[in-house]
Amino acid sequence: MALKTFKAMLVKDTGDNRYTRQIVDKSVEELPPGDVLVNVRYSSLNYKDALSAIGNKGVTKKYPHTPGIDAAGIVAESSVPEFSPGDEVIVTSYDLGMNTSGGFGQYIRVPAGWVVPLPGGLTLRESMIYGTAGFTAALSVFRLKESGITPDRGDVLVSGATGGVGSIAVSILSQIGYSVTAVNGISDKTAYLRKIGAKSVISIEAATDQTGRPLLKERWAGSIDAVGGDILVTTIKSTAHNGTVTCCGNIASPEMPLNVYPFILRGVRLIGIGSQNCPMPVRRKIWEKIAGEWKIVRPDPLTSEISLDELDHQIEMMLQRKRKGRTLVRMTE
Ligand SMILES: NC(=O)c1ccc[n+]([C@@H]2O[C@H](COP(=O)([O-])OP(=O)(O)OC[C@H]3O[C@@H](n4cnc5c(N)ncnc54)[C@H](OP(=O)(O)O)[C@@H]3O)[C@@H](O)[C@H]2O)c1
Repeated sequence: MALKTFKAMLVKDTGDNRYTRQIVDKSVEELPPGDVLVNVRYSSLNYKDALSAIGNKGVTKKYPHTPGIDAAGIVAESSVPEFSPGDEVIVTSYDLGMNTSGGFGQYIRVPAGWVVPLPGGLTLRESMIYGTAGFTAALSVFRLKESGITPDRGDVLVSGATGGVGSIAVSILSQIGYSVTAVNGISDKTAYLRKIGAKSVISIEAATDQTGRPLLKERWAGSIDAVGGDILVTTIKSTAHNGTVTCCGNIASPEMPLNVYPFILRGVRLIGIGSQNCPMPVRRKIWEKIAGEWKIVRPDPLTSEISLDELDHQIEMMLQRKRKGRTLVRMTE
């Protein structure tokens, strides 16, 4: 192809456990082999990207590396019949941005099996308002509904509600008729949470049991948990008979000090949510829901748009818990 270089964030290991981030010119030839070359128009910032950007070896083993687990753009080259130059596509999950050069570069090259055609009803920009965080939120809502938790069953609790997964979960659930209680952030974001659809807001302290009792008063018909740890344990113990809790995150803690009573005495279900290897037929179905009946009517309050040059600062803000909602990264100059 004619284009020789493109802009990308590059994270380098300088030794002594230090990592630097710079916007550099990369060459298309440096990209890994793959079926589809995509000109990335939008990416988005997820917690996993922030970890990759600071050298977390659980996410990225080899540096120098370009993070970005999300990308939406236009096919530039394809060696498979399913995709042609000019197609609008979404690439999230699998190994993108982990050990494969990711969406914080203006080009990615990936296997065709990672690529989802942009569903009708969604623009490339809109798809990255959701990104992996929004996809995970939508998959959680799908599993909650599938397990029989309908709006008439009672309140649904969302933890990590000020963040990417949580904000999209609150928005979708409230829009489709659920009464949502949101767990606040470390700084008070009540006004924001109400604006995106939460009926009630509780503090992290109020969502965290201190008594150690095996069962607590039944409060929630269901829950979407994005943080893990003591909040998840408290939620499970507070879930009503035959309720469902989905679990996708470990940002508070991966530990779960819990016994079996909520499961055997109340029939509570705990459903794990893994977006990374979600099978393609389910993946496409969830994107169709996002583009259709679950499309958030007013996404502005939960969306900030930045350029690639502003990304470094936003990564710091994410790690310091000083932002909210979703951060969309514009990859065009
Ligand atoms: N399983 C999957 O497929 C999947 C997919 C996407 C994300 N995830 C995971 O889901 C989690 C959230 O991701 P995200 O992209 O939404 O991150 P994010 O935008 O940074 O949001 C993090 C949220 O968690 C809250 N939080 C952070 N530390 C906490 C703590 N110690 N106790 C209680 N709340 C805390 C934050 O509150 P404040 O900052 O307002 O204080 C914020 O609401 C991460 O663990 C991520 O790895 C999993």
